Amino acid sequence: MTRISELKNCIWQQALISRQDREELNGHRSCIVWFTGLSGAGKSTLARGVEAALHLRGIRTFVLDGDNVRHGLCSDLGFDDKSRTENIRRVGEVAKLMMESGAVVLAAFISPFAGDRNLVRDLVEPGDFFEIYCKASLAECEARDVKGLYKKARRGEIKNYTGIDSPYEIPENAELILDTENENIEESIARAIGLLDDAGLFDRDR
Ligand code: ADX
Repeated sequence: MTRISELKNCIWQQALISRQDREELNGHRSCIVWFTGLSGAGKSTLARGVEAALHLRGIRTFVLDGDNVRHGLCSDLGFDDKSRTENIRRVGEVAKLMMESGAVVLAAFISPFAGDRNLVRDLVEPGDFFEIYCKASLAECEARDVKGLYKKARRGEIKNYTGIDSPYEIPENAELILDTENENIEESIARAIGLLDDAGLFDRDR
């Protein structure tokens, strides 16, 4: 663990090429699009769908997905509250770096705690972070149970499962709510792209 006192010996290295230079080269702005919601609410599906739609438009993108990141960067973390907070802190920092590199970062994490999500929001400038709440009831997610994990959690084979024996704090200041229970994937993707379009992310002359 790095101590604060050791940080004074780490001097920030200023890049020659700025984020704006990279954005100009790309022809679009970069940002973080953060998908939050219960397991099975559609976060990964939507992040991938939005990425595909943006890619077709020539936008540089990258998806950071909870399940994938937990195989590498966060493979040492579990699902207790402290581990989830650390998971989101790390991923938030990575998302910020990728945003600095000029990419539109699509992050799909349960991120159940509002405080953790707000921490990532506060890591970047206003307008750089778009929180998208993938809204689906626990009953619906459990009925979908794509990975069979809700069943395992109900049998007590998985502890601290979000929605079962671990909380999910519903976003209060999300930029967009996608009701995945009542709208289809294409509609949701179009609404997410609309949000980014409205924010002028892809305007050539800004
Ligand atoms: S988060 O809460 O820390 O944001 P994250 O999005 O990285 O979670 O990982 C969620 C994925 O891990 C789920 O989609 C599911 O496949 C898997 N998983 C395994 N155990 C749990 C658990 N106890 N609670 C929630 N998801 C779990």
